[in-house]
Amino acid sequence: MNQPLISVRNVRKVWNENSPKALTAIDALSFDVAPGEFVVLLGPSGCGKSSLLYMLAGLETPTDGELLFDGMPIEGPDTERGMIFQEASLYPWLTIAENVAFGLKLRGELPEKRERIARELLLKVGLADAVHKRPEELSGGMRQRAALARALSMRPKVMMMDEPFAALDIQTRAKMQDHLLKIWRDSRAGVVMVTHSIEEAVALADRIVVWTARPGRVKEIVSVDMPRPRNPRDPAFIELQLRLGDLLADEVDRAFREMEASI
Ligand SMILES: Nc1ncnc2c1ncn2[C@@H]1O[C@H](COP(=O)(O)OP(=O)(O)OP(=O)(O)O)[C@@H](O)[C@H]1O
Ligand SMILES: [Mg+2]
Repeated sequence: MNQPLISVRNVRKVWNENSPKALTAIDALSFDVAPGEFVVLLGPSGCGKSSLLYMLAGLETPTDGELLFDGMPIEGPDTERGMIFQEASLYPWLTIAENVAFGLKLRGELPEKRERIARELLLKVGLADAVHKRPEELSGGMRQRAALARALSMRPKVMMMDEPFAALDIQTRAKMQDHLLKIWRDSRAGVVMVTHSIEEAVALADRIVVWTARPGRVKEIVSVDMPRPRNPRDPAFIELQLRLGDLLADEVDRAFREMEASI
């Protein structure tokens, strides 16, 4: 078997360890992501999905267990692992093209090359007109696309995305999903994306990792064996959505019971 792009092995994350506020967010979590695979994480609020993405990005460390990227332990941030947060975090004082080219500039690329790559990427995400604009002049969906272009500028082997479309209206969200699928196919990067939308998960994923309530671990891994683009009206699509809904409902109930008990 090929080496996984990412291995999550028996990972535990305790926040505020050794203090009265200690909280086990993740426990005994294990799964792999293959090169170029699109994996969606689906789970109740507070089960540790964002915590895992921060650790995969190298911004936090696990309390226990192993996180491997290309077979090597993750020890800090790296341009091969791109991250997109829920709210697009662009630099407000730079133009969109400058935002996209920011990492290339840090890496010491020359202006002509930076500009060329930024233009190519902005064209790809449908923002060719926004090259000279500033973030505040763009809509939320456009800003997320610019953030996607910026992450892609480093040619990452994997993109981590934390509910990237949660703040968008349904129509914009559907368009963004189309964009993302095209870009993903061209880039051949792996994707690890968190969403609360079961429909979005079924529309996009190769595999869906369903989490338990906190402490988060794998409840079930569901493969989505449907050709893309997928039609939400397709009976197989609907059936899978219902199954995932049932899987999640138990865990969401549990999460709420625990939250109420702790108040
Ligand atoms: N920096 C932190 N310090 C302390 N506790 C934290 C920190 N980040 C997250 N937590 C706690 O860890 C648990 C998991 O949080 P996390 O944000 O990973 O959940 P999530 O699955 O992303 O939830 P949601 O779906 O609501 O975004 C929560 O109880 C949260 O309060
Ligand atoms: Mg989160």
